[in-house]
Amino acid sequence: MKMKCNLRRLVPVSWIPVLALGMFCSSSQADPVEPGRLLASNCFQCHGLKDSSPGFGKLVGRKADVLYQAMKDYQADPSIQIMPVHARGYTDEQLRALTEWLSAYRP
Ligand code: HEC
Repeated sequence: MKMKCNLRRLVPVSWIPVLALGMFCSSSQADPVEPGRLLASNCFQCHGLKDSSPGFGKLVGRKADVLYQAMKDYQADPSIQIMPVHARGYTDEQLRALTEWLSAYRP
């Protein structure tokens, strides 16, 4: 007797539990707590992370509203200085997220 095994059917069915696992597990890898972290990491290139960092002014630990307003003021400045050009690249939502992260972060 010859056993028939239809691999084309078997393989997709056997992937279902793996795919189902992926659906539940991948969502836990997202980090909803720190939405501004990745955006804020850009600021550290010039401003540093710590109180003692060299750079153009400390950002960490300052009030989120103050930082947000500073970025909005920079956005309204039509010059091609570093910060005005930089600030224009962010949406309001992104500015809120990154300034809140900066404000809450403790080195
Ligand atoms: C390419 C370097 C560079 C990057 C990246 C950068 N800055 Fe700046 N930033 C500067 C320089 C230079 C100044 C000072 C000159 C000026 O006021 O334009 C400054 C000034 C500031 C000031 C005003 C000074 C102060 O300490 O209050 C704020 C606020 C600020 N940056 C926020 C940010 C934020 C938030 C980010 C990230 C989204 C960021 N910067 C990214 C270079 C940078």
